[in-house]
Amino acid sequence: MNQNTTIRRLRHDDADAVRELDKQILGQDRSHTWDQYVERFLAVSNLDSLILPPWGAHVADHDGQIVGFIFAERQSRGYGLPPGARIVAIAVHPDYRRSGIAAQLMERLCEECRGEGIEELYSVLRSEDERDQDFLRSAGFDDASIKVFVRKP
Ligand SMILES: CC(C)(COP(=O)(O)OP(=O)(O)OC[C@H]1O[C@@H](n2cnc3c(N)ncnc32)[C@H](O)[C@@H]1OP(=O)(O)O)[C@@H](O)C(=O)NCCC(=O)NCCS
Repeated sequence: MNQNTTIRRLRHDDADAVRELDKQILGQDRSHTWDQYVERFLAVSNLDSLILPPWGAHVADHDGQIVGFIFAERQSRGYGLPPGARIVAIAVHPDYRRSGIAAQLMERLCEECRGEGIEELYSVLRSEDERDQDFLRSAGFDDASIKVFVRKP
């Protein structure tokens, strides 16, 4: 990762920059539904009444430009599951990829999880999304040992 890139918490005034980056990536890479999750995070981060930024939200800042972000949310502890968190979105600007920025964002989230006693971090992908799986595997994710059941309502 370039020396001028730092990983820091999402700030209230980052919302527009993250939204712009997400829009750029969306056209190229993402399913059109993903922006709703990102938008939900940004709507919360925009709230002036929040004293702290939302949990699990970090950005990569390159000389004042937002070039990547990771958003995660805590999962409920119900039904005997260990305390966990789910990655809602991770993305890096196309010009800044393959230089370890996503790996650094993930490491920062892992540090935050360790500090909170969160034992498992999840990412849910369609099985055909092979390219994203390459990144996740390199970031230390394994196939889940839990079963996910799904049906159309
Ligand atoms: C996936 C994404 C976040 C990776 O960001 P990045 O900053 O380029 O990733 P890193 O540089 O930290 O990559 C770390 C490792 O992941 C793997 N990896 C990352 N991108 C990869 C790709 N396109 N193909 C294969 N392996 C990849 C490699 O092992 C890489 O290490 P290396 O560069 O030394 O070989 C980025 O490509 C992106 O924003 N994609 C669009 C949004 C998206 O698909 N999000 C993923 C949902 S999980």
